[in-house]
Amino acid sequence: MEKTIFPPGKLDNIEFVVIFAKYRDKWVYSWHKRRQSFEHPGGHVEAGETALQAAKRELFEESGITDCEMIPLWDYEQPWDDGIRKNNGRVYAAIAHSLGELPESEMGRIELFDTVPDNYTYDREEALRDLVRAQAILDARMTVKHFGGEEKVMTYAVRYYTKTGNTKRLAEAIAKELGVEALPISEPVNEAVDYLFLGNSYYAFTIDPEVKTFVASLDKSKVGKIVNFGSAAMLNSTYKKVKKVADKVGIAMDEKEFHCRGEFKGIHKGRPNEEDIAAAVEFAKQYK
Ligand SMILES: Cc1cc2nc3c(=O)[nH]c(=O)nc-3n(C[C@H](O)[C@H](O)[C@H](O)COP(=O)(O)O)c2cc1C
Repeated sequence: MEKTIFPPGKLDNIEFVVIFAKYRDKWVYSWHKRRQSFEHPGGHVEAGETALQAAKRELFEESGITDCEMIPLWDYEQPWDDGIRKNNGRVYAAIAHSLGELPESEMGRIELFDTVPDNYTYDREEALRDLVRAQAILDARMTVKHFGGEEKVMTYAVRYYTKTGNTKRLAEAIAKELGVEALPISEPVNEAVDYLFLGNSYYAFTIDPEVKTFVASLDKSKVGKIVNFGSAAMLNSTYKKVKKVADKVGIAMDEKEFHCRGEFKGIHKGRPNEEDIAAAVEFAKQYK
């Protein structure tokens, strides 16, 4: 019997939850050890649990993910074959900022896919339709945001260039605050983001050529704005140097930036220090 779909929150008495987890633009599937096939994390809502609590628990048990944003996608009513009984379920998207460690469970491992894997436990055609629907809902949320709607679901990426580790430390603190991973600029920005936090510093009065190449390689349809951050021993900010390249690719620089002192050859020892890191975190908070 075909299930019926409703907007999320429409149905009461949710007995099942299913979680469509995404990590870095790929869908996360769990390998069921006994069934020898892939499936979405999900399961029963237990007594005393809300649907959301159940979804978070199932997601952790079956994928290891805890660091994520949960978005209710739709409710469904699944009639039984007897034509009388029904089960209500709710489907969530989980946008994972990092992958955790899979606890001991009926799942053997997780794998990332662009679409429903061939070896899928349930009806693959139906799952493909569900995935398209899920993506459409997630895209619509993005559209709302880009057109200045009420909903604010900001997306971020953090990239850094470092020679002596200072920028990396700032990047990691900022990324943690934003719930993303700090990556070196060797990692291209493949996903669409509202803000790209770019950490860089002065070396011999200019920014490293690799930083220029990175900025020049950015796709303006993917990066809303660049947020500059970094440290230097003497000079104040690399903002203008980065902006020069960003202008060429047509990506705006946010007018705000974060800058602090950075240790160099015994000058400004220990900087960025704890206070600098805390200030960087405060800076990042404004973008949430
Ligand atoms: C090779 C080199 C050249 C530098 N040149 C400058 C400079 O011209 N002006 C300045 O203010 N700081 C300069 N610094 C200091 C760095 O900007 C500062 O140490 C910064 O925190 C380094 O960040 P990182 O550890 O991420 O590479 C230089 C550092 C290095 C290693």
